[in-house]
Amino acid sequence: MNQFPDGFLWGAATAAHQVEGGNVNADLWAGEWAPGSRFAEPSGDACDHYHRYPEDIGLLAGLGLNAYRFGVEWARIEPEEGYFSRAALDHYRRMVGTCLENGVTPVVTYNHFTTPRWFAAAGGWNGTAAVDRFARYAARVTEHIGDLVPWACTFNEPNVISMMVHLGIVPAAAREDGLGLPDGTGGTAGTAGTGADGQAGGQSGSGGSWPAPNIEVMAAAHRKAVEAIKSGPGNPAVGWTLALIDLQSADGGEVRWAATRQAAELDWLDVSRDDDFVGVQTYTRERIGPGGVLPVPAGAATTQTGWEIYPQALGHTVRLAAEHAGVPVLVTENGIATADDEARIAYTAAALDGLAGCIADGVDVRGYLHWSLLDNFEWTSGYAMTFGLIAVDRSTFARTVKPSARWLGEIARAGRLR
Ligand code: BGC
Repeated sequence: MNQFPDGFLWGAATAAHQVEGGNVNADLWAGEWAPGSRFAEPSGDACDHYHRYPEDIGLLAGLGLNAYRFGVEWARIEPEEGYFSRAALDHYRRMVGTCLENGVTPVVTYNHFTTPRWFAAAGGWNGTAAVDRFARYAARVTEHIGDLVPWACTFNEPNVISMMVHLGIVPAAAREDGLGLPDGTGGTAGTAGTGADGQAGGQSGSGGSWPAPNIEVMAAAHRKAVEAIKSGPGNPAVGWTLALIDLQSADGGEVRWAATRQAAELDWLDVSRDDDFVGVQTYTRERIGPGGVLPVPAGAATTQTGWEIYPQALGHTVRLAAEHAGVPVLVTENGIATADDEARIAYTAAALDGLAGCIADGVDVRGYLHWSLLDNFEWTSGYAMTFGLIAVDRSTFARTVKPSARWLGEIARAGRLR
């Protein structure tokens, strides 16, 4: 019940824009500095991971972790349409190489929310050429680093805006919520989308409606990028990662719950059926009543982001993903924003307990990548939310390893919970 398989990937994750710093050609950088920006603060130098990655990967390996998920940044690699920066590509090749030299398996995300400014200006994911543009970029990245990369994620959480719109956390571009249900109360100011709402805000460029990327476009872009990656050097396992909140039905909410789960999760999991794996990213649950999302239960403990502390969500969503996608699962994100590192350990222990239960029941789980390696830029919430296993001093960039990091490293070394 508490044993993890040989070769299990134990690690942590980051995203380029959240840790690198100076990502000036990205759409969100522009959004952070725009008048009336919804960002609490700009990303700025972030954790200066762009320069300090050798130290960070060294720390991760020293803890006993054997995998690192990080993003390559499209806005750096293709700062103008059709111009690919050899220097940026070389940088990411060095990062992958540093992982391998440290005995760390690299898990590379090709797109984690940010896109180049030129791509956003051309309509972003709603632009006519979006699919071809992303596939061309994916091909170029793969040509440069694919021979060294065993795991590739095309998109990070392409379903996240859809999820927030369907939960009523952000307003839909259209009046209806896409569920085909009669108007309810519209839900409460839900919680679990707070972190990612920065990227949606940046992409929409206004405080108004939220055009959720269309699943057909994202699935087509994913499929074409998978082909590009598979045609390049190396033989990486390729998939995308999904935001899988543990959606639960409250009394009377069954119809709305089923419709929400279908549109925000199951339709997207269907796309993964043709992939090598599906990346599961889970933080909490949301309960759905007849009128929408219910508030966090009275008295329940919450995180800095206001999300209910509900570690059972991981086991639940891993089972859902395995059942619906029918492919191996890689947990590409799971974690908690808290200043209380003991609470991080307790949350992660309970989440891993649920994951071990899945494995004992025969679910094919390939790894667990904790969000996040570093305290980093939590989108619109800025730097106040601390998800990291390692703290970062905001004025000196000095790293401080937290007890939770050492605790996770011990579990990784042992390959078992207790
Ligand atoms: C995203 C991360 C984010 C985390 C916590 C996920 O939705 O992929 O970029 O920092 O959740 O909000």
